[in-house]
Formats: sequence, structure tokens, C-alpha cells
Amino acid sequence: MGSLIEQVRAATRLPIITKLSPNAGNIAEFARVAENAGSDAVSLINTLLGLAINPQTRRPRLANITGGLSGPAIRPIAVRMVWEVFRKVKIPIVGMGGIMDSDNAIEFILAGATAVAVGTANFVQPDASVKIVDGIERYVEENELHSIREIVGGMII
Ligand SMILES: Cc1cc2nc3c(=O)[nH]c(=O)nc-3n(C[C@H](O)[C@H](O)[C@H](O)COP(=O)(O)O)c2cc1C
Repeated sequence: MGSLIEQVRAATRLPIITKLSPNAGNIAEFARVAENAGSDAVSLINTLLGLAINPQTRRPRLANITGGLSGPAIRPIAVRMVWEVFRKVKIPIVGMGGIMDSDNAIEFILAGATAVAVGTANFVQPDASVKIVDGIERYVEENELHSIREIVGGMII
């Protein structure tokens, strides 16, 4: 992965955001490789590999047998991985995985994400992202912050 990113780095001056998979072992190590190879940011997590079987037909529910699991079920795993990566690298993190509302987004920010991304929620509620932005603005006001940046990685242990 490192040499691939190095080649992309040599080919462009555009920002490189490397998307990391939760299925590849130690995600924080991969984040470090991405940083050392010249990524400007990392983005995580991608979907987790899942398998569902129909008991009646005994066949996998997906034609491809396995498929990517996204949405609220993966959020605690994603938040944990963002926190692990935050402790390992200095480049910014785009956090995602099961963000459905602004509290979910703030969770990722507290774990160390500088930005968040919303995927599955768009299929359930097309205006989810707009509501999430409004909710983050409300949180900033209610907590008398100047900017949401003040709480990046701000989880209190
Ligand atoms: C229908 C669908 C298509 C996706 N396609 C891609 C893709 O092409 N490339 C990629 O890196 N991630 C892809 N993802 C993963 C999402 O970008 C995201 O990492 C993951 O779904 C977790 O976020 P979420 O729970 O908010 O959806 C896809 C997810 C879904 C649900």
C-alpha cells in the first residue's frame, strides 16, 4: 500500500485522502504507512465483511456470498478505530461508519476525527447530512465553543 501511495504522490499535487479498511488487520499501522507514504489525510472505516444466510433456502442472501456491512451496527467499531488511528498519526482523519445523527458525528470528532462522512444514513433519510450539520452547530453553541475543532480528540477518559 505504501508504494502505491508514493506513486500517486509523485504523480499529483492534489490532496491524497487514503481510505482504510477495517478488514485488513491493524488499521492504525496502515494509517501510519499511509502517512509516511505522503497521504494528506486518512478516511475510515470502510465496510466490514459480512455474511447472511437464508435458513429456508440455505443460500447466502447476497449473490456475491459475502458483502460489506455498513450503518449503525458498525459504529462502535468505527469509533474505536478512529481513536486508535488518532493516537498513531498526525494527519487529519475523516471518520465514518454508522453516523445517523449529529450526536453520532460528535462521537467520531471526540475520538479524533477532524471531519466526518455520512453514507448509509442517506438511504434512510436523504436530508440526514443537513440535520447533522445543524446539530453540530447547535452543539457548538450550547457548549459555548468557538469551533467544533476545539473538541477534536477531546474524549475525556
Ligand atoms: C451502497 C454503498 C456503496 C459504497 N461504495 C463505496 C465505494 O465505492 N468506495 C468506498 O471506499 N467505500 C464505499 N462504501 C463505504 C462507505 O463509503 C463507508 O465507508 C461505509 O459505508 C461506512 O459508512 P456508513 O455506515 O455511513 O455507510 C459504500 C457503502 C455503501 C453503503
